[in-house]
Amino acid sequence: MCGIVGYIGNRDAYPILVKGLKRLEYRGYDSAGIALRNDSTQVYKCKGKVADLESHASGSDITGKIGIGHTRWATHGEPNNENAHPHKSMNGKFTIIHNGIIENYSLLKKKLGKRGYKFESDTDTEVLANLIEYIYRKGDVTAELAVRLALTKVVGAYGLVVICEDTPHQIIAARKGSPLVIGVGNGEYFLASDATPIVEYTQSVIYLNDNDVAIISEDELVLKTIYNDKLTPHIQNLELDIDQIEKGGYEHFMLKEIFEQTTSIHDTIRGRISVQKGEVFLGGIQDIIPNVVDARRIIIIACGTSWHAGLVGEYLFEDLARIPVEVEYASEFRYRNPIIYKDDIVLAISQSGETADTLAAIKLAKKSGATVLGICNVVGASIPRETHAGVYTHAGPEIGVASTKAFTAQVSVLAMMAMLVGRKKDCLSEEKYINLINEFYKLPEKIKSILEQDNYIKELSAKYVESPNAMYLGRGYLFPVALEGALKLKEISYIHAEGYPAAEMKHGPIALIDEHMPVFIAATKDKSYEKIVSNIQEVKARKGNVIAIVTEGDTVIKEMADYVVEIPETCEELAPLLTVIPFQLISYYIAVLRGCNVDQPRNLAKSVTVE
Ligand code: M6R
Repeated sequence: MCGIVGYIGNRDAYPILVKGLKRLEYRGYDSAGIALRNDSTQVYKCKGKVADLESHASGSDITGKIGIGHTRWATHGEPNNENAHPHKSMNGKFTIIHNGIIENYSLLKKKLGKRGYKFESDTDTEVLANLIEYIYRKGDVTAELAVRLALTKVVGAYGLVVICEDTPHQIIAARKGSPLVIGVGNGEYFLASDATPIVEYTQSVIYLNDNDVAIISEDELVLKTIYNDKLTPHIQNLELDIDQIEKGGYEHFMLKEIFEQTTSIHDTIRGRISVQKGEVFLGGIQDIIPNVVDARRIIIIACGTSWHAGLVGEYLFEDLARIPVEVEYASEFRYRNPIIYKDDIVLAISQSGETADTLAAIKLAKKSGATVLGICNVVGASIPRETHAGVYTHAGPEIGVASTKAFTAQVSVLAMMAMLVGRKKDCLSEEKYINLINEFYKLPEKIKSILEQDNYIKELSAKYVESPNAMYLGRGYLFPVALEGALKLKEISYIHAEGYPAAEMKHGPIALIDEHMPVFIAATKDKSYEKIVSNIQEVKARKGNVIAIVTEGDTVIKEMADYVVEIPETCEELAPLLTVIPFQLISYYIAVLRGCNVDQPRNLAKSVTVE
């Protein structure tokens, strides 16, 4: 979590830093701050968002061609002015911004305390600033060496940018576990946690690897490891468009991203599914497909929405490819001493590619000798670089904290993988395979027709704005959709919501149902249709409010439910891709009508880079 930016060159740094921080606010918005280098380093920082920082800094000297900035998601120390970054070392020699966690900070703090260091904040970052300064002042070392030596003493994760008073034309950046990208301009360099603050200035970027340190002046970048091994910077071309990271006329990124699903699904399958040839091709894992075909089982690891996509993947792989699947929360898996066999496939799913628990679970699985694959949205992120092979979802940047188009893109990739492997294993008939391929191509149009009901969905959402609780139900492929619907509602509207397999309701949750409880049910026509109709009757018998997502033309549920949203028919394997969309819109409108900040819900950050 936390977003960091930096600039060194001939332009004024302040506007570049502020704009960059706004792009990175999805990573945290508890406080914001910048440091600008002139004759000395000026720091402006405050609790709140980047807009608060702008007010705070207005009227002050904001000149400077070198600067660093930070938007914080609090880990050590509450969100307040003191804990906001940048942090200066006690004697003011170093100013630093940091994304990550210094796990041994309290031990280091004690040691520094004994040597006379005083701390103004509760953060681990200030400890690191003082450690660097302590090493610098104690020995005859350069600023760069002090940073590198300090980092050898640190346990934890960091994306770090440092300014030293004695080397005013230099910025030092380092990475371990938290992402850092350097944009290479003409006589200027840009630094950021991801490429979104950089894209409008340059398409040439360097992704730092763990243990890399970059020593940057306006006309030179030297790359080395923290152990002083010289590295050749690998400059890559950025595949990102400025339009993709703007709101494009929508009130919120979340709404834009929900509506983008007509094209994002198309982008995910483009070049991978051919109706003409009747085949699925996934270049990123082509060489690994034989391992998947022979796999003893697939273990899917993920968090949050990506975990829900993984649950859909379980149904898909078991149904279409007859491979046993376990779906694990990455955070539990990594600490559980799991049994992993060499012939297991471990499949990590992550939109950001930076989720700390998923990354750590991947490292654990690799140690056990399993083949580790990834499904990721952000090109060049840590997870795709850590896995043996993988597939990008190509959904485009997802800025809203609530994941929407990433979910449908992940499920699309999982479906393509299961189809490919199922066909290779001969578990999936040619007829069904071709039918799935054809259905895939019809999805964008079908999604469009759901989105056209936007106004109606907004109206029905208004009925549930005051509900303190909500229940989501689904069966089979639609059970993970119920979980996802509940997560969407709770994370952006702060309404307590639970998702259950519809049949489980009888085993406890049914006790919660009365006339005040909205029950959102994914109930399209599939093999459990009759069963879910019975579940709806059970809810209605207890006076619950039923809002059902049904297949177009369904008259049976229409008569029973309080509201229905009709969606086009598709095969049950792909039904999650359509049924989830009304749930996304309902959450969005309920949250907006409650006055919540849907793109930046409280306490959350888009990319969870702490465990
Ligand atoms: O980037 P990832 O897919 O690894 O992120 C996983 C979760 O943090 C993420 O899905 C989170 O649950 C979202 N806020 C859900 O909308």
